[in-house]
Amino acid sequence: MCGITGYIGNQDSKEILLKGLEKLEYRGYDSAGIALNNDSGVHIFKEKGRIADLRSAVDERIFAHAGIGHTRWATHGVPSRSNAHPHQSTSGRFTLVHNGVIENYTLLQQKYLQNVSFQSDTDSEVIVQLVDKFVNEGMTVEEAIRKVLTLLEGSYAIAIIDSENPDTIFVAKNKSPLLVGVGDGFNVVASDAMAMIQVTDTYIELMDKEMVLLKKDEVTIKNLAGEIVNRDPYKAEIDASDIEKGTYPHYMLKEIDEQPLVMRKIIQAYQNEKGDLDIAEDIIEAVKECDRIYIVACGTSYHAGLVGKQFIENMAKIPVEVHVASEFSYNMPLLSEKPLFIFISQSGETADSRAVLVQVKEMGYKALTITNVPGSTLSREANFTMLLHAGPEIAVASTKAYTAQIAVLAILANVTAQSRGLNDGFDLIHELGIIANAMETLCDSKEEFEKIASEFLPFTRNCFFIGRSFDYFVCLEGALKLKEISYIQAEGFAGGELKHGTIALIEDGTPVIALATQENVNWSIRGNVKEVVARGANPCIISMAGLETNDDRFVLPAVNELLTPLISVIPLQLIAYYASLHRGCDVDKPRNLAKSVTVE
Ligand code: F6R
Repeated sequence: MCGITGYIGNQDSKEILLKGLEKLEYRGYDSAGIALNNDSGVHIFKEKGRIADLRSAVDERIFAHAGIGHTRWATHGVPSRSNAHPHQSTSGRFTLVHNGVIENYTLLQQKYLQNVSFQSDTDSEVIVQLVDKFVNEGMTVEEAIRKVLTLLEGSYAIAIIDSENPDTIFVAKNKSPLLVGVGDGFNVVASDAMAMIQVTDTYIELMDKEMVLLKKDEVTIKNLAGEIVNRDPYKAEIDASDIEKGTYPHYMLKEIDEQPLVMRKIIQAYQNEKGDLDIAEDIIEAVKECDRIYIVACGTSYHAGLVGKQFIENMAKIPVEVHVASEFSYNMPLLSEKPLFIFISQSGETADSRAVLVQVKEMGYKALTITNVPGSTLSREANFTMLLHAGPEIAVASTKAYTAQIAVLAILANVTAQSRGLNDGFDLIHELGIIANAMETLCDSKEEFEKIASEFLPFTRNCFFIGRSFDYFVCLEGALKLKEISYIQAEGFAGGELKHGTIALIEDGTPVIALATQENVNWSIRGNVKEVVARGANPCIISMAGLETNDDRFVLPAVNELLTPLISVIPLQLIAYYASLHRGCDVDKPRNLAKSVTVE
């Protein structure tokens, strides 16, 4: 994970680097640092903790036209000041920031750097020490960096400054995301465009194993053979206001509230001039040609995949398997003859998913990525992309991306069904319109969910979510939301599974949140609620209008039964939000997590 910024130009780099790191804090927030390069040398400031801690440690008086910055999510070495980036070579000449994991760093240390005394426990430091060593042995800086890149195994996005050459930042990437931003009289580097959108909207993509010499008025991209690579810049379509909290206390609350708007944007984006839902012809062909779909994703995106499987099987009648990406490579199922892979990823950067994408592409299979980030690694590397149109999701806990993923999967299933002549008159545009209105009603009922959170969850150590059919998948997501931001141990269970073991955990007062939105399982899930109540549980039933009873705590507006996950998740997102708030947790940046998981 980790986030990187770099600036070289006429202005003072400090504030630009720090502001960029604030935007990248979602990528990791264990520790942070910047290095400023000016005529008096390289000045490093780093701190354990958040960017705010770093900000107060930076010496305001130092002015530098060039600098690099880093916000860290620890992989090798505990979060500490000494493990925080930037790292400097022992001679003090080279300073580095790195995102990624260098898998062979111990081997490199043993082979080349036995006499060097390392300042940190990180894998990253080996890079900067190696550059220094090769330069001392007579290579130019560029040659030394290129040589180091050929030795590294693993993933990296790096920026290096040289105290003897403050006019250049050396940049390189492999598997970890990194972009160059182009300005008038300055250039920048960042892990994503959001970080630098305040200073430029013009970016150049970097490919794996490329290196860049970044000067204030020149960007030179080279491959590992030292040959110059030409690539046109593109305009990043990010509205700077999309990445501000505005009047909201937290990004998570803002993003929950954005869900009705996202539904409407998705309908618009996938409508053709005749007003029908439409997706690219080559995607439809790929889906029609395959004999089985394999959905691969992690976390919340995996949960959206579970719902998507039901849509595709129900509407388009194509069998679907859903797999957790981190397990897939080692435990690959027996594949069908003509598989199609669908990768669902909000960020489009998740390393576990990418590893599977690389693997299945090598096997010659086609892949579709469903992502929120155009130009992201998973989007670039798959054959096809469908975008979520959800706007930047900043809170670590995913909310609007989950519902956007479900809506886009519904569109994929619906359009494929139509192209296979399986149109049963289901008007998805109309149904999604009803969903958007229902979402609005729910977002306007926040105080209800705040009450539920304060009644059920302030002192509990655990909480169970139960449901059947679609509700079970939403329960998995509700439990993930609650545990990741409130640290309450929460689990989602299929209602029928409880009595096969889990019911042993029910004690007096254990909160059990039950979803009842599906007619065919309405009475069986209510039976499961009775079973836990008989053992002392404190139940909270959330049902759908038309299925409600007097026992229910909240009744959702009626929507098409197939699409209920799009609305039943909203109470669970809000309950998790208020539980986190009441327990004094950091809603947007929960402990130990990062938004974009770019290490396997
Ligand atoms: C939980 C959450 C994570 C992500 C997971 C995959 O709220 O956000 O579980 O869903 O890390 O991330 P993406 O979708 O970016 O591949």
